Amino acid sequence: MQAEEAIYSEPAVRLRNITKRYGETLALDAVNLDIAANQVVALLGPNGAGKTTLLHILCTILQPDNGAAEISGFDILRQPLKARKHLGVVFQEPSLDDRLSVYENLDFHGLVYQVPWRLRRQRIDEVLALVELEEWREEMVRSLSSGMKRRLEIARALIHDSRVILLDEPTVGLDVQSRARIWEYLGYLRRTREITVIVTTHYIDEVEECDEVCIIDKGTILAQGSPQALKQTHGRQVLRVTPRDQAADAEIVALFPDAIRNKSDQLLLQSANPQMIDDFLQQFGTRVRQLDIDTASLESVFLSLTGRELRDKPADAREKTFAFGRRGGDFKR
Ligand SMILES: Nc1ncnc2c1ncn2[C@@H]1O[C@H](COP(=O)(O)OP(=O)(O)OP(=O)(O)O)[C@@H](O)[C@H]1O
Ligand SMILES: [Mg+2]
Repeated sequence: MQAEEAIYSEPAVRLRNITKRYGETLALDAVNLDIAANQVVALLGPNGAGKTTLLHILCTILQPDNGAAEISGFDILRQPLKARKHLGVVFQEPSLDDRLSVYENLDFHGLVYQVPWRLRRQRIDEVLALVELEEWREEMVRSLSSGMKRRLEIARALIHDSRVILLDEPTVGLDVQSRARIWEYLGYLRRTREITVIVTTHYIDEVEECDEVCIIDKGTILAQGSPQALKQTHGRQVLRVTPRDQAADAEIVALFPDAIRNKSDQLLLQSANPQMIDDFLQQFGTRVRQLDIDTASLESVFLSLTGRELRDKPADAREKTFAFGRRGGDFKR
């Protein structure tokens, strides 16, 4: 039997050859992944990439068809209870009890995980302070806003001895401020506790401050590394062009056969060579209606790895100025 010290072993999460099919759909295709302890790691991928399937396998509610996985050194198939003991989860679908108060939701969770009552009370105070919900302690959950509910779910994942927390799209559908606050808490957690945070998202602007990003598409991990390393290895300059008319469009495509057409009917031209912009401007400068230059961002990393954009349009102005709040940029030690 494995010793309890296994929780300190590296990596915090290890997946080997994990495969999962739903009928004809191959949701995960022999995934191998190591995630080192005490990091904030983003799983970045579009709808249907396999992010939720991967997290459901890690939290042992879904069995893989093939492969092996460990959480904090515990085999999720052979030692699921031990693996779960040190795992906190925030599911994609809300899972609070609306008819209970904030406090009751947290207390019930602590009871299920057999946290002794004195420690439970202490932890409830701590986590409510962390997510700034102390004043809402006795409030019924149904009266909270979506952002507050998401914050409460994060608090709940921390009531027991979590070493690894999995968060499935914790910020989706939230306003910009609520999103920023959630990332603040994750950054704060990362600095103040020995905890590994694995968070799925399809908001590319959110992952810049993470320690690592895993890019997932069609059930495969395409790349893993710090945002900086990913940009250095896979980043390309991207010209985002709206041709002035059909003739210009046809000529650009003829000259740049690798151009990718996105859903907004823009042509995306990628190159590792900065000279490309000059060449393009010289030939087509007067024949484009709009031109944006994207210099080796994570969006361009996704584009060069998949041939598609992660989002159909660039972030709107408000989202572009999305910041990581007052604790921003503090993810790394
Ligand atoms: N219960 C299911 N039955 C059948 N197909 C499923 C089921 N769950 C997921 N799939 C399919 O498996 C693939 C991966 O789905 P998954 O939910 O893991 O993706 P995701 O990356 O979490 O997407 P999203 O960003 O939309 O949450 C998709 O093609 C999806 O349609
Ligand atoms: Mg999902």
